Amino acid sequence: MYKYPVIVFEGIETSGKSTNLKIVAKYLNNINRKFIKIREPGGTTLSEIFRKLILNKKSKLNFKTDLMLIMASRSENIDKIIKNNYGKKIIIIDRFVDSTIAYQHYGMGINLNLINKLNNFLLDRFKPTFTFLSIVNKKNMKIRLNKRFSLNKYDKFDLSFYNKVQKGFLNIAKDKKNYFIIDSNENNIEENSQIIIKKIKKLVS
Ligand code: TMP
Repeated sequence: MYKYPVIVFEGIETSGKSTNLKIVAKYLNNINRKFIKIREPGGTTLSEIFRKLILNKKSKLNFKTDLMLIMASRSENIDKIIKNNYGKKIIIIDRFVDSTIAYQHYGMGINLNLINKLNNFLLDRFKPTFTFLSIVNKKNMKIRLNKRFSLNKYDKFDLSFYNKVQKGFLNIAKDKKNYFIIDSNENNIEENSQIIIKKIKKLVS
């Protein structure tokens, strides 16, 4: 049990990550627990500008530039939001360091050591408490991707890319006690909601 855990939500597009995050936010509101919620890339006003630069459909920035902007966005979040709220409020983060490993390393092939070094440099001793990883199978991924209409630059990869990224996420989560996998294929939202709330109840005191 933690008074002020840092809870991260990870998963590829169409995995149900945002729905699962909303379930937790609603539950915390219902039990009157104070929390702050940020997303990455994004967060501070400046980080939201970085987000637009990275994800804009027309962006021609290369993957290395994206990585630098993602890290710059994270650096601002840690300095301006996370440090100030750590130990004072529950912090919910929509994507964090694992997304960089999954997308930029497993998806795009950028050197893992480099990414780890940059993340360690930014995070110092700070660590998320718990991570919910949402997953989806290939069939549902395809159907759901086709239904999305506000496509950004990172919505436009092919299925094999998302498959590599999801495998990366699963690799990161493997054998780790502070990760919980939510399968959006097996259960409906109501069933998942109950599973998630049960987990979050144990996490927040
Ligand atoms: P979102 O739509 O869930 O907010 O995610 C934005 C996109 O940013 C998503 O496609 C994943 C991508 N991303 C990375 O590639 N690396 C990262 O480190 C982060 C935080 C996000």
